[in-house]
Amino acid sequence: MLTLSPSLGKVPPMDALEKEILLSREVIAKRVQELAASISRDYEGSELIVIGILKGAFIFMADLIRHLTIPCRIDFVRLASYGANQESMGKVIITKDIETSIKDRDVLVVEDIIDTGYTLSFLVDWLKERNPKSLKVCTLLDKRGRRKTPFEADYVGFSIDNFFVVGYGLDFDENDRNFADIYALKPLMGGKKK
Ligand code: PRP
Repeated sequence: MLTLSPSLGKVPPMDALEKEILLSREVIAKRVQELAASISRDYEGSELIVIGILKGAFIFMADLIRHLTIPCRIDFVRLASYGANQESMGKVIITKDIETSIKDRDVLVVEDIIDTGYTLSFLVDWLKERNPKSLKVCTLLDKRGRRKTPFEADYVGFSIDNFFVVGYGLDFDENDRNFADIYALKPLMGGKKK
């Protein structure tokens, strides 16, 4: 796992005043392949149900599953969290449930980023009530220093500091999800959720 801090991972910025690339598409692609290889090894001989958390995880999940060498089925869940500002305060609700039975199945939840940990803590408890055979979590990005509740993912692409990041599925006010690279927004560095 790579750890990125403000002094690492920089390449020449596309727009130095507003954002700079934190993780290039090449760096992301290599790490996604590594994660898929680990997951394929760990689940060899079984079929996996991969559950993506909308919307942020959709690009990461699409790339990840195409590198899996084991059979898999996919589903999606969508959650909403509520708080006074951009930061979750721990109240999470399901706004779109999965449509697949996960009872006695191996389940892998795929997330784009973990911040406070509230979303995944809630979702893991929610899914465990359906008695999966196993349940693991894979996140592309992990802001470990931001946890408000303890949560450890089983597979982590990159640990990052408190940048506000966009691209590769991650948004700023619903924009920028389509960027192929992941950018840190400079004016918001250190201040906000993602
Ligand atoms: C983001 C992200 C995670 C969650 C992480 O989702 O995709 O699901 O926040 O935050 P937490 O660890 O503090 O709970 P967001 O609510 O922004 O929705 P999106 O995926 O549609 O962008």
